[in-house]
Amino acid sequence: MLVQEGKAKIYVKNGVFYNPRMQFCRDADIAVFSCMGGHEYLDALAATGIRGLRACIEADFTAFFNDANPKAVALIEKNLKLNNLECKVFRRDAASLMRERSFEHIDIDPFGSPAEFIDAACSSTKRYLSVTATDTAALCGSATVSGLRKYSSYAEKTEFYPEVGIRMLAGKIAGEATKYDKAMEVLVSWAKEHYYRIHVTFRRSPKRAGGIYDKLGYLYYCRKCMRREWRAMDGCSVERCRCGERYTMMGPLWLGELKSRNFLEKVIGKSEGKVKNMFTRIAGEIDVPFYYDIHAFAKKMSISSPSINRIIEELRAMGYSASRTAFSGTGFKTDADSSEIVSILRTL
Ligand SMILES: C[S@@+](CC[C@H](N)C(=O)[O-])C[C@H]1O[C@@H](n2cnc3c(N)ncnc32)[C@H](O)[C@@H]1O
Ligand SMILES: [Zn+2]
Repeated sequence: MLVQEGKAKIYVKNGVFYNPRMQFCRDADIAVFSCMGGHEYLDALAATGIRGLRACIEADFTAFFNDANPKAVALIEKNLKLNNLECKVFRRDAASLMRERSFEHIDIDPFGSPAEFIDAACSSTKRYLSVTATDTAALCGSATVSGLRKYSSYAEKTEFYPEVGIRMLAGKIAGEATKYDKAMEVLVSWAKEHYYRIHVTFRRSPKRAGGIYDKLGYLYYCRKCMRREWRAMDGCSVERCRCGERYTMMGPLWLGELKSRNFLEKVIGKSEGKVKNMFTRIAGEIDVPFYYDIHAFAKKMSISSPSINRIIEELRAMGYSASRTAFSGTGFKTDADSSEIVSILRTL
């Protein structure tokens, strides 16, 4: 069957993975790629090759393709011809290929968890790394033991779980990269129901790589009053919340920015429609970790949920930073303490 996606045409075939529902993600990727400048890119788990083909045609990349499945390799060759492209196609285990040589930019788009590829990808990449994860239960705290096994990070389910998930994934990449003297910066990332997507860049410097541990650490979360505190890996820990309750400690998690403002402005300029809407929502979010959920407060206080815009206005009027969040329609971000939010809600 012939499919058109973006400016690429591809044959899809039984036995080779193609998910049309991920087109939104690939459309968003193309806007991101267009702002990186054309370069050498490895579609490490390519299947039909759709992502790499679109990267060549729509973002002027020089792509290398890889898939361990011989059927996928044959289909990628056919799809390259169909689009009049000549590119190198490997039929290798992605981790072995990445161990052997380096690439400017690597894209990891696996079935389920990217965990087994992250170390090799961090060692191989010269500049950029893009990662998809569909094992959202392991990342966001609903499958705690899977999170430990795959990401060496502890999390429990909270009302802001999508952000915990993306911060666990980012934290894993950041930590693995420091072995190779690479300091990670997130360019842009997003969470959808069934997957997380993150695009990062690296700078090579042992000193900067050491500095990553200022942005990697633990979240202390109080289930009773919803207070959150976070601490980098500085040897100190906090046992109890100011309300007296014991904190739940989660991590390691990435505590730094989940986007680069300059980069995101460029991406917004290159995108349109729903993709542009998503990037605009991300850009509107303040850089404070761990959003609050209005329903969680309403439930605890036995009140009906007030409008989020109203709370944001009140918080700003009191001198706090506050914004909506791209993670959830019922969430908001602020640097105010949970007790301040409770006092505001009492007056509304
Ligand atoms: C989710 S699909 C990739 C989808 C594709 N990137 C897209 O956008 O449509 C994952 C692919 O990884 C391949 N794969 C799984 N394990 C691999 C490994 N260790 N090395 C190389 N390829 C592998 C599978 O054959 C499959 O084609
Ligand atoms: Zn508390």
